[in-house]
Amino acid sequence: MIENQGERAQKIVTIFDDIYNLPDCRAYYRAMDHAGFRTAHYAAAAFRAVLAELKRVRGLTSAGVMDFASGYGIGGALTRHEVSLDDVLTRYRDPWFDDATSEAVIAADRDWFAGHRRGDQEDRSFGIDIADKALDYARAVGIFDEVFPENLQADAPSPALQEALAATDLVIECGSVAHMLPAALDRVLSGAGARAPWVITAPIRGNDTAEAMEIMAGHGLTVEALDVPPFRHRRFADADEQARAIANAEARGHKTDGYETTGYFHAQLFLARPAAEATPVANWPVSPVAASAG
Ligand SMILES: C[S@@+](CC[C@H](N)C(=O)[O-])C[C@H]1O[C@@H](n2cnc3c(N)ncnc32)[C@H](O)[C@@H]1O
Repeated sequence: MIENQGERAQKIVTIFDDIYNLPDCRAYYRAMDHAGFRTAHYAAAAFRAVLAELKRVRGLTSAGVMDFASGYGIGGALTRHEVSLDDVLTRYRDPWFDDATSEAVIAADRDWFAGHRRGDQEDRSFGIDIADKALDYARAVGIFDEVFPENLQADAPSPALQEALAATDLVIECGSVAHMLPAALDRVLSGAGARAPWVITAPIRGNDTAEAMEIMAGHGLTVEALDVPPFRHRRFADADEQARAIANAEARGHKTDGYETTGYFHAQLFLARPAAEATPVANWPVSPVAASAG
């Protein structure tokens, strides 16, 4: 969903900018549905598996989970609730959502999520984004306990966000942004300090920047690519976008035949955690591989 416009340092430009910050999520999910969005399906399976293993390793019953660049909170939503990406995308196809007020959408979504809360869920859930309305939606419907409309790429965290970062055990990210915002990633990890959160990200191939990897390593984290085959992110908008994506993916050493050449951005999963906690993924109680090909 992130368009690489060549220069890494340029503003992140996306074709969905106008729907990132509305009072409710329906326009965003309808556009994602139309674009063949799949990343959250694969990422959420990994988020749940990583969270289970992190809690096992640290002996936690309740973890702090920070959804970075959360938007309307799909990562947090699928981690906290017994719903799938398909459930979410299908939900907003209902014509009832054509004319409902945002208040009505929020009330309906709050009830829907409440009815699907995972039984074992005692974790604290936080969201950071620059999109304040999207965050307000996600908190109002119960995806997040606290939200922080802050731009850590530009500024240090507020005292409230600093407190949340210090309580964060896991950072999740599925918008392909964390690797593109290295200063923000650095501030998230600095803010968490000695708690040394695990970080699970799902960058588009080509957005998996060396700078982000170095920042995570610089905070004492070992970064590994999870053994999950590259998966579809979304359909390319046009041939230019596809050509740019192929060039970017190849510049990062990826073979694009059978992946980006099929007409879709592809993404992958990276996990960063302290070396002393780097348990073999094959031994985890929950598999990070999504159950269906989707
Ligand atoms: C592609 S969307 C992904 C949203 C969500 N994670 C998802 O998968 O639906 C990218 C998000 O990054 C957010 N964003 C862009 N720049 C940011 C920044 N400097 N700090 C935090 N969020 C930012 C946008 O507002 C947008 O919500």
